[in-house]
Amino acid sequence: MENNVILNVNSIEKRYGDFIAVKNISFQLKKGRALAILGPNGAGKSTTLKMIYATTVMTSGHVDIRGIDVQKSPREAKRRLGIVMQDDLLDTSLNVCENMIAHAILFDIPWSKAKEKADSLLTFVGLSNYRTKQIHELSGGMRRRLVLARSLVNNPELIILDEPTTGLDIQSRHVMWNRLERLKKQGVSILMTSHYGDEIERLADDVLIIDHGQAIASGPTSEIPQKYGYKNIEQTYLALTGYVEERDEIEQTFS
Ligand SMILES: Nc1ncnc2c1ncn2[C@@H]1O[C@H](COP(=O)(O)OP(=O)(O)OP(=O)(O)O)[C@@H](O)[C@H]1O
Ligand SMILES: [Mg+2]
Repeated sequence: MENNVILNVNSIEKRYGDFIAVKNISFQLKKGRALAILGPNGAGKSTTLKMIYATTVMTSGHVDIRGIDVQKSPREAKRRLGIVMQDDLLDTSLNVCENMIAHAILFDIPWSKAKEKADSLLTFVGLSNYRTKQIHELSGGMRRRLVLARSLVNNPELIILDEPTTGLDIQSRHVMWNRLERLKKQGVSILMTSHYGDEIERLADDVLIIDHGQAIASGPTSEIPQKYGYKNIEQTYLALTGYVEERDEIEQTFS
């Protein structure tokens, strides 16, 4: 049913002067589903997400979240969203719990409620013993988990994550995956980017592969490899983006 659609992205495009960073990207995301965008460095993944969460103005196209036009009503749209950006952007003058509360206050959540929410979300991501730590005392994985917890203070229906596990160790990746799976089971929709085939196969129901700002493949994660005759997402991605192992070896020999 149409009303199951949380996010509707229609022909979005971003130009920087003559350069087209994102061209004609369209997709929909339904309640409780996860979609991953995969593509090489510079392909336009972060730009696509930024247009969706209304941080970058799109050159053309349309995005709505639960029917709310993100360009016309960015504040209202953002109330429905949790955002985990590529860079952590935590406030280093505040400790862990204060970062959570400051974010909750942005959503007009009263202080006592914000405190309660902060405590339960820090427990959810396994940081309850780190409430009073300073940001610089956290490891990279802990910072990522804190950003995830922070993105959930407004009970979002949709969370947008830009490379949620890049740079994390294997344990931290699994913690992140487990929490995202739990959120999905609660009916939260997930839009993410990732450079990892295994992560996408584990979390994403659907995948959108982009290169040079354009969609080159999309569909259910479980069906894409067979469709192109490869064994998994990573192999399919390498082939579709033009990576040829023999050529790479030759280039390395002569470089
Ligand atoms: N503010 C900007 N001004 C000009 N060009 C930009 C700007 N932001 C991004 N770009 C260009 O747009 C293209 C897409 O960038 P984007 O950050 O979306 O890539 P990405 O797919 O997220 O890459 P990565 O995997 O490295 O994070 C790049 O060529 C980048 O140089
Ligand atoms: Mg990026």
